[in-house]
Amino acid sequence: MLGVILAGGTGSRLKPLTQVTNKHLLPIYKKPMIFYPLEFLKKIGISEVAIVTGREFAGDFANLFGNGCEYGVDFTYKVQEGALGIAQAIGLVERIARNEPILVILGDNIFMLDDKEYEEIKELLDRFSTDPKGATIFLKEVPDPQRFGVVEFDKDGNVISIEEKPEVPKSNCISTGIYLYDHTVFDKIKTLKPSRRGELEVTDLNSCYLSEGGLKCYRVKGEWIDAGTFESLHRANILAKKVEDYRI
Ligand code: DAU
Repeated sequence: MLGVILAGGTGSRLKPLTQVTNKHLLPIYKKPMIFYPLEFLKKIGISEVAIVTGREFAGDFANLFGNGCEYGVDFTYKVQEGALGIAQAIGLVERIARNEPILVILGDNIFMLDDKEYEEIKELLDRFSTDPKGATIFLKEVPDPQRFGVVEFDKDGNVISIEEKPEVPKSNCISTGIYLYDHTVFDKIKTLKPSRRGELEVTDLNSCYLSEGGLKCYRVKGEWIDAGTFESLHRANILAKKVEDYRI
């Protein structure tokens, strides 16, 4: 299965750091941010990876990773011409995906899971590969849901809506930046219209799957941080140090 790391966007919430380099190359403790989603993909057995990023710093990713042999990964790079949205960025890998399912991870998402949970996710992927239909989103309960795509449930626990950054969140449960899609994802992206901020929204894409009854959820048990703000970048550094020191 192709893994897709999205490393485009403007990183405007991290200015002036992101005027110097791309957000996903900023340090989190001992490594550039993008190493964390990359290590996640490797831990769940994905070794074919597409990196989507903007034109300005695209060369820096190639400098860092080359063809990937040092990392045991086969890389392809795609340039997104402008921050046109997460769903637009996913659409760029259509040809590389060759009609197969894909696993997308946002480049600023840091997951720190235990081995048991990586195994669980691997099994989920294996099951999906044998019958790749629909989409699976990865959920987490957070104290500040209004920053994210918020998931609403009915009384039986079924998802009934997902809202992007609502002022009044309908739950504390949000969609993190991991998405597993069947090959119909690319046709669905072509039907999306830009949101008010001019982006093709991943929440609208996931809502397409929901409306046809094809959306499943996985609840993340380990630690998760979206490192896209100064506060969360700082927390990610502290967590990464803790995990690293514990290993030593
Ligand atoms: O982190 C989880 C959240 O990520 C979800 O809960 C939201 O539903 C989802 O929209 C997204 O929200 P963010 O506000 O965090 O998205 P952001 O604009 O920070 O973009 C997240 C990553 O996606 C970023 O690290 C780079 C990539 N990206 C983003 C855009 C807008 C691209 O590659 N291209 C883009 O055009």
